[in-house]
Amino acid sequence: MEFENIETITLLGAGSMGHGIAEVAALAGYEVRLRDIKTEFVENGYEQLVWSLDKLAEKDQISEEEADAAADRVTPLVDVKEAVDDTDVVIEAVPEKMEIKKDVYSEVETYAPDRTIFATNTSSLSITDLSEVTDRPEQFCGMHFFNPPVRMQLVEVITGSHTAESTLDAVEQLAEAFGKTPIRVHKDSPGFIVNRILVPLMNETCWMVSDDEATVAEIDSTTKFDMGLPMGAFELGDQVGNDVTYHVLQYLQEVLGDAYEPAPFLKETVDAERYGKKSGEGFYDYE
Ligand code: CAA
Repeated sequence: MEFENIETITLLGAGSMGHGIAEVAALAGYEVRLRDIKTEFVENGYEQLVWSLDKLAEKDQISEEEADAAADRVTPLVDVKEAVDDTDVVIEAVPEKMEIKKDVYSEVETYAPDRTIFATNTSSLSITDLSEVTDRPEQFCGMHFFNPPVRMQLVEVITGSHTAESTLDAVEQLAEAFGKTPIRVHKDSPGFIVNRILVPLMNETCWMVSDDEATVAEIDSTTKFDMGLPMGAFELGDQVGNDVTYHVLQYLQEVLGDAYEPAPFLKETVDAERYGKKSGEGFYDYE
């Protein structure tokens, strides 16, 4: 698939990354299908997308007409066949679990045209392993956005062992067309670049709370005001989604060892379904 011929993009998963990437693609003028497994998930994702577009319009970052046009370019769907029928690019942003993602690809490859590029927004999982469950490993790569996609500039474009150069070129050009800055990650290593650095940092802060070495407030004041991060470490965790951080750590622990063991404080937070902003509660309360 040549970049110039890309017109339609399918987002699989309407969670915070899925609807955020759908918004970015629609703002760039693409026809977007936003798909999730339940009507309520798709409706919620679409509502969040419209909220974000309205917010951008409110702040004059886009016009109201641009916001309306972008919202109109997005079709919310549950039927997977309809979602990938005759689409040019599939960007998958389903939960960060290898088995869930593999099941999704097995289903999707049946209905997607041969030309379609598969790009995964995985935060950490092996691109090569995921590509091998599809019938097109050479047309498969990582396209990793950051939360919130509409505000974050970077996109990691990750090559798997089988990815063709032409696929990477097309995906990098697509990221540029989205107004983003793609960085090519040449090695398919766990967590790629950003999350290999960032997720252990967030875990370490949770270990400090677990071991009663510092409080959430102390750590966030330090990371935000002294270390110059845009958000405190725990605010960032709530932005990313504590379940996402936890799943990334579980994978890093599995493939890299116990140095990546999730801290008890993080596990307790996830077990209590305090996932962060998206669930209304995380390390902080949002309602
Ligand atoms: N769409 C539109 N508006 C949004 C928004 C969205 N998706 N998300 C937040 N906003 C709005 C807020 O509602 C708020 O609006 P009000 O001012 O009306 O209350 C406003 O944006 C806040 O924006 P500001 O410009 O005032 O704040 P800021 O300059 O601090 O920017 C930020 C916000 C861009 C999120 C900034 O805090 C930041 O860069 N944070 C770090 C985020 C980050 O590092 N993300 C990557 C995490 S790692 C990851 O995602 C990868 C992974 O796989 C786990």
